[in-house]
Amino acid sequence: MTISTLNQIELIIENSLTELTVIDDLETLENWRIKYLGRSGTLTQLLRSVSELPLEQRKIVGAAANSAKNELEGKLLQRREDIQSNDLKSNNSDSIDITLPGRRGPIGHFHPSTLVIREISSIFSQMGFQVVDGPEVEWDRYNFEMLNIPKDHPARDMFDTFWLDINREVDGAFTTLLRTHTSPMQARVMETTSPPIRVIIPGKCYRYEATDATHESQFHQIEGLAVDKGITFANLKHTLFEFARQMFGPETRVRFRCDYFPFVEPGVDMSIEWNGKWLEILGAGMVHPNVLRAVGYDPSIYSGFAFGMGPERIAMLKYGINDIRHFLQSDIRFLRQF
Ligand code: PHE
Repeated sequence: MTISTLNQIELIIENSLTELTVIDDLETLENWRIKYLGRSGTLTQLLRSVSELPLEQRKIVGAAANSAKNELEGKLLQRREDIQSNDLKSNNSDSIDITLPGRRGPIGHFHPSTLVIREISSIFSQMGFQVVDGPEVEWDRYNFEMLNIPKDHPARDMFDTFWLDINREVDGAFTTLLRTHTSPMQARVMETTSPPIRVIIPGKCYRYEATDATHESQFHQIEGLAVDKGITFANLKHTLFEFARQMFGPETRVRFRCDYFPFVEPGVDMSIEWNGKWLEILGAGMVHPNVLRAVGYDPSIYSGFAFGMGPERIAMLKYGINDIRHFLQSDIRFLRQF
């Protein structure tokens, strides 16, 4: 009897602990507890039967059964803690399952204005033009005066200007502004370098205007300038024609018409044929002798051509955009398309 009861205890310990090692949730663990340590659990019943044993046996078996009970209770507690801390770990946002495949984040891309500026810059770079940068806050002197637009010249009306309330003259006249075009860079480049010059200057410009589908108060321009001995209108035509063919396709037709800008003479605008319509894309002309003189060049030795175009306008053409205001509205649905 004693031996068999002791064996029984041994067996209960062995079986219960084997079962316990694979339990990893609290519900199964509770069933395990009921099975062995519950009111009618195997070990509990065995403990109860100890009182029916003769005294000597009672001592031995009782001690063995009690220590078995303590052992199982200890293991039960341990297991419960392990399961709970495991649950915590898997609910914790810090835990990382390194076996999961990676999630790709959104990748940014270029704004349509930037795309067009880059494309235009690369075409002119290949023709030997250098890309130069210039200030958006500009002096009246460069934006107007050195470009043959003195104070009170009616041509100032072509450029609705954002004047800046800093560096006013003694009589209160404004001297600084947000550049209304990139042409002031013509004067800056000529003033600081000597011919031969071949540069393009992309950058932001500002005009104090009501906005509508074709006008924005902030936009880009790309200025071009070539100065050397013997530069003629033929060079201007060839350069711009070549640009149009590379930008819009080899069959593109172009049209030059007379136009007026105070800093060129003669002045023209150029249109391209696009879907059966003539669309004006830039202003150009031969650098005015007064502009050459203002930067200290002798117009009897040097001549040059200049042009200015609007990349937003060209982007609208190329991509079929019907409203220039889209460019600055930061609407992700618009921007995603480029
Ligand atoms: N700056 C002129 C404009 O903003 C464009 C232009 C540039 C015209 C260079 C002729 C030569 O309209």
